Amino acid sequence: MSPCPVMTDPLPQSFVDLLGDQVELHPWTTDPESDTLRRCRGIICYSHPAVDGPLLDAMPELRVVSNHGVGVDHIDVAAAVSRGIPVGNTPGCLDASTADMTLALLLAAARNVRIGDRYARSPEFVHYDPSILIGHEVTGSTLGIVGLGRIGREVARRAAAFNMRLLYHNRRPDPEAEAALGVEYCSLEELLRQSDFVSLNCPLTEETTGLISGPQLKLMRSSALLINMARGPVVDHAALVEALTSGTIAGAALDVTDPEPLPRDHPLLSLENVLITPHLGSASDRTRRRMMEMTAENLQAGLSGRALPWQVMTN
Ligand code: DGY
Repeated sequence: MSPCPVMTDPLPQSFVDLLGDQVELHPWTTDPESDTLRRCRGIICYSHPAVDGPLLDAMPELRVVSNHGVGVDHIDVAAAVSRGIPVGNTPGCLDASTADMTLALLLAAARNVRIGDRYARSPEFVHYDPSILIGHEVTGSTLGIVGLGRIGREVARRAAAFNMRLLYHNRRPDPEAEAALGVEYCSLEELLRQSDFVSLNCPLTEETTGLISGPQLKLMRSSALLINMARGPVVDHAALVEALTSGTIAGAALDVTDPEPLPRDHPLLSLENVLITPHLGSASDRTRRRMMEMTAENLQAGLSGRALPWQVMTN
């Protein structure tokens, strides 16, 4: 059988090897005249290029969209489903690594790890000085989790080991999670008022776009840190710059931004009280391997007309 043409974002060689010789990979294009769009039967994507109605309409042979990751905000799932094209993603396998990274950013921002590293390498570090870089104590503080889904729950489990008081906000309370994890439900406003650390772990939807904007930032404590592991557009970046420069909040740690990457002259990049990482939430060896396997399984199922093992459902 000849290999099946599949359009893809750039893939690491280990992923290309995993897919084997049953697929023929074509680089991403949106040119409606291209042979790629006319012939490809599958799409592998993982983030930014939009998969929308016009792209789907330009791909008459398309049988499946397989997303390497759990977030599908870049895919118009309803448009795909209405055209009979299933969309797959990789839920579950990245919860632990994304929660690990949430705690890594929280701890690093709270305890000045980035600034401390730079100082320790610099000629200015000539002796131990107990008066510098005093951070926020994490143990025993209050963490507010916005979005207590699979990843948010893993964050709560880890934070419990730091004896943190755990608040959460979801569309509705989750009594089971409260019993299992010792988390307390509150309104977004109350969570923002009471938390020392606010961790965004929700998906990007219409409801969560701009969820943290000027009025919400003003509710936060002036000593509080905001951690965004969700998606950039959950936070209004102009309002965030204003809050960080005026001292409305103490700092932020961002694994995702809007846009991503930020333009090199973006004001956030020059602020000392911001820690930024390049969308590393799921970037651990075991997790990335499992994401590749699940993406490949979804792709192969869709190409051969079988139900996808991990299919995204529309609401
Ligand atoms: C996800 O799975 O959505 C992560 O953000 C990686 O893209």
